[in-house]
Amino acid sequence: MSVPKKSNLSTLIQFLHIILDKILEFILGWILGVKRHVSAPKNKDYEELLSSSAVKLAGLIRERKLQSYELVKAYYENLLIVNRDLNAVVDGPFIEAIEEAKLIDERFKNGDITDEELKRKPFLGVPFTTKDSTEVEGKLHTLGLVSRRNERGSKDAECVRLMKEAGAIFLATSNVPEVNKWIETRNMLIGQTKNPYDYRRSVGGSSGGEAALISACCTAFGLGTDIGGSIRIPAFNCGIFGHKPTKGVVNMRGCTFRSGDEESTMVAAGPMARYADDLLELMKVLTGQKMLKELQLEETINLKSLQYFYVPCNNMIQCNPIGKDEQNLMMKVCEHFTNLTGSDVNLATLPHLDMTGKMWRYWMTQEPANFNKLLGNGETLNPFIELFKKLFGRSDFTMAAIYSLIDALLPPENEHKIREATRMCKEALDDLLRDNGVLFFHSSPRTAPFHYYPLVKFTDFSYFSIFNVLHVPVTQVPMGLDSRGMPMGIQVVASEMNDRLCLHVAKELERKFGGWVKPYK
Ligand SMILES: *[C@@H]1O[C@H](CO)[C@@H](O)[C@H](O)[C@H]1NC(C)=O
Repeated sequence: MSVPKKSNLSTLIQFLHIILDKILEFILGWILGVKRHVSAPKNKDYEELLSSSAVKLAGLIRERKLQSYELVKAYYENLLIVNRDLNAVVDGPFIEAIEEAKLIDERFKNGDITDEELKRKPFLGVPFTTKDSTEVEGKLHTLGLVSRRNERGSKDAECVRLMKEAGAIFLATSNVPEVNKWIETRNMLIGQTKNPYDYRRSVGGSSGGEAALISACCTAFGLGTDIGGSIRIPAFNCGIFGHKPTKGVVNMRGCTFRSGDEESTMVAAGPMARYADDLLELMKVLTGQKMLKELQLEETINLKSLQYFYVPCNNMIQCNPIGKDEQNLMMKVCEHFTNLTGSDVNLATLPHLDMTGKMWRYWMTQEPANFNKLLGNGETLNPFIELFKKLFGRSDFTMAAIYSLIDALLPPENEHKIREATRMCKEALDDLLRDNGVLFFHSSPRTAPFHYYPLVKFTDFSYFSIFNVLHVPVTQVPMGLDSRGMPMGIQVVASEMNDRLCLHVAKELERKFGGWVKPYK
């Protein structure tokens, strides 16, 4: 790998980043005390089952080697215990999930389930969860807002409906930051969700409750949404897989009040799971039959015939410099794919990556949703009054939410400049990847920080949000643990409609580097 030349100024800024990072680690580490992590499922007989892939569990149920009742009950019980520490659940786990599982077992026993039904229901009898901001009929739908503490969903979001139609059993809704707009998972209604690997550290956001539950073996898989990294940041922080699909391939109806008919949006709903295999099979359900064909999700892929690229950093002076461990990881990934294909993984540059922060901020203002109004649950909030209340400990909002309110008052980005930069970056990426290229991109310059760290340093999420700006599919892949015992990871990017390339490369990375690592001993 060649290291780009640096000016003295950027060297100085990088040095300051490292100092500030170390100071924050020290102070927050001191405040947050000793490290604790999640324990293995109490019922040892079920440990192997609960840590399996959703695809494997579905297979066991289909072959009647496992009762759905047994599985759902085991997840239910583990979730109850683990959630006392993680604080990841908003609503659930639901006892009716166990009842539903019993009915399925009974229908199996009576021979009522035909092969045709099994084909339609690839996840029959397997439990799943979703973030609270995605609507589920009859379940709490708070978006982390105190003002919505009793609000319930009236209709299943399309992605939830599709999973239920595929036979999966709904188990619980999980915690989010207020209206999903933060990179940690904390609100004034439920509180803060903890990382299964280290309770002192952030689960990321916004699908943070999901990632924590999945990694800690409290559910078989989950559903997330991603407008600036909201699937991938928590997946990265909690060491699991997550896929942000090409924009528009998964219907958004019912996710954060969306109708599903929005023309232009950066948001995409997608699967989160412990195993790469699950992502592909879940995508087949979530896209629906027609889109499944267009995305060619059932095609086999010759990984040796693809072209691979990597970008060593995004050149944003606002971001932490890429850590040593992260650099080594990227090198190992490149080496592996060089070995696999017999040709080099090429260093790539994309124009204007250093403007990612500005690009994402601008495109957020072009979203159909009004975040201030979402936060106010229909009413427009005055940022100064909210800040004032916060300073006196009387606010219903977190500091992160108040940041967002204040940010909206700051001068807007230069529209022309941003649109031009976006166009150039997108064109360069399309030219680079075409229909057979894959890009490796760092997930983050460092592993999951302590809680509250992002209130001081939050710009690192630009490594994720660039791909919302560019609308391309990305799979977040867990890649073992660093010296702190926190999950490392990498993003696998392809051009629009080539989700299958990301998903197959993710599988290869899992095979080679081990994928999800249990957060307990
Ligand atoms: C690539 O191949 C070389 C030579 O066989 C081997 O030493 C190296 O460990 C391989 N790299 C990876 C990441 O597997």
